[in-house]
Amino acid sequence: MASKKRIAGIVLAVAAVGVAGLGWSRLNVSRSNVADDKVTLADATSSDRAAIERGAYVMRTGDCLACHTAGKGEFAGGYAIDTPFGQIMSSNITPDRETGIGAMTERDFFKAVRHGQGSKGLLYPAMPYTAYQRLSDEDMHDLWAYLSTVKPVSNEVHENAGLGSPFNIRYAMAGWNLLFFDNRGFTPTPGLSPQAKRGQYLVDGGTHCAACHSPRNLLGAEIGSRYLQGGNLGDWYAPDLTPNPHSGLGNEPEEGIVEYLRTGSNGVSVASGPMAEAVEHSFQHLTEDDLKSIATYLKTLPASPGGSPAAVAANTPAMQRGALRYEVNCSACHGVRGEGMGGMTAAFAGNRALLSDDVTSLLHVMLVGGRAASTMEKPTGAGMPSFAWKMDDRQIAETLDYIRNSWGNAAKPIDEKEVARMRAQLQAAKQLPAN
Ligand code: HEC
Ligand code: HEC
Ligand code: HEC
Repeated sequence: MASKKRIAGIVLAVAAVGVAGLGWSRLNVSRSNVADDKVTLADATSSDRAAIERGAYVMRTGDCLACHTAGKGEFAGGYAIDTPFGQIMSSNITPDRETGIGAMTERDFFKAVRHGQGSKGLLYPAMPYTAYQRLSDEDMHDLWAYLSTVKPVSNEVHENAGLGSPFNIRYAMAGWNLLFFDNRGFTPTPGLSPQAKRGQYLVDGGTHCAACHSPRNLLGAEIGSRYLQGGNLGDWYAPDLTPNPHSGLGNEPEEGIVEYLRTGSNGVSVASGPMAEAVEHSFQHLTEDDLKSIATYLKTLPASPGGSPAAVAANTPAMQRGALRYEVNCSACHGVRGEGMGGMTAAFAGNRALLSDDVTSLLHVMLVGGRAASTMEKPTGAGMPSFAWKMDDRQIAETLDYIRNSWGNAAKPIDEKEVARMRAQLQAAKQLPAN
């Protein structure tokens, strides 16, 4: 019953927000006055090679290609994104006049990417315009020049057809925007060094780290007061990026953060799921200097609250069962002392990503398996097998409790009900009776 009430609450809130949205025209949309209002993308013929090249880089930082491609051709849209409100498809953003954004002028394009006002009405924040609103006019112009060189593809996409009522009403987004959309452009934190400032521009703008790493409220808006302190994406958890030494990046040197973003591993933790994709498609293509700027900026953040819990004692029967199961099933790949395999498989000793209270990502790799990023520097993309068929919920909880509380680690024990919930949510296999 409680969950039903919560959903009803969301619906009411969105309906109310929709009415409040009558005032949406008050939103400031005139910031992009430098953009051209005549030539459409289909007719644009940029001969400025340098701008096109810079635009290709901005596109990489924004990860536009990965999110706007799904089999019908590059940038042709149709990539499905699951939200708590249903599924949404990304748009065709090739210069095709009928089904893409070929009819947009540069000004229309600025409005769509920075203000969430698309060709069919207000956009859903699944398109990260809430972060891109911080992109500079120069970067936006270069992005436009680059997109004008993309091959037009005819592919009709019905973006919001998979959303339930009332979320399929674009107009409701007006109220959402009034409540949550910060439209001020990039305003750096005072006192940052030039390098940290560049890092903040990348983190808050193009690379939209907070879209995953900040927690969201019931209406799907990032909670500003818990900026980058860890976000639950439903099937994955994006951990705390503040300098908290227990749950965050406190003990991680800047070089480790750079290596993780460039290769998908710092030699200890290994990126999987959405982070592996972001590394593959976007972060590995950033310059070393930009990756350094990101790491430098993250180190200037205030640490999230919360310390380390006491480790679970090693001599409880549950921990001993976990230890045995670890040795039999896991040690071949993760090492008898949790030392991992040089950034191919994760190490567990000293792996903070393992210690968050939110264990969604750990349960995800245990129940359906995972794959590391395949990058230019580390092309293997090693796989983690699923143990759903081999272990029941209690056995999975115990094995994870063991790795979360050995080799100097300390973390809260996992409730086996949480494993059951994730098993159902991920539609993972049931344990086979033979075990
Ligand atoms: C996380 C996924 C994601 C990323 C990353 C992303 N987009 Fe989108 N984009 C979407 C979705 C989903 C929509 C459709 C939203 C809607 O219809 O309300 C969309 C819509 C758009 C539109 C509006 C199209 C129209 O016809 O109104 C444009 C333009 C666009 N994106 C450009 C970009 C650019 C440029 C980038 C990179 C800087 C980018 N997107 C990155 C998901 C994404
Ligand atoms: C599409 C969602 C998404 C985006 C965007 C994203 N991340 Fe992540 N990130 C994740 C997830 C999920 C994990 C956990 C991966 C795992 O458990 O293997 C993660 C893990 C990490 C880790 C490892 C944390 C640890 O304690 O070892 C770091 C560091 C990180 N991300 C930094 C960043 C930075 C910096 C950005 C922006 C430049 C960023 N991420 C953008 C989803 C994302
Ligand atoms: C065949 C080799 C293999 C075996 C066996 C294996 N793993 Fe993994 N594991 C991997 C690889 C490769 C990764 C990194 C890719 C990924 O995260 O999906 C990984 C990642 C993980 C992660 C995520 C760590 C992070 O940094 O996000 C956890 C947790 C994990 N394994 C637990 C286990 C447990 C517990 C067992 C035994 C029940 C086990 N693994 C058995 C190969 C293996």
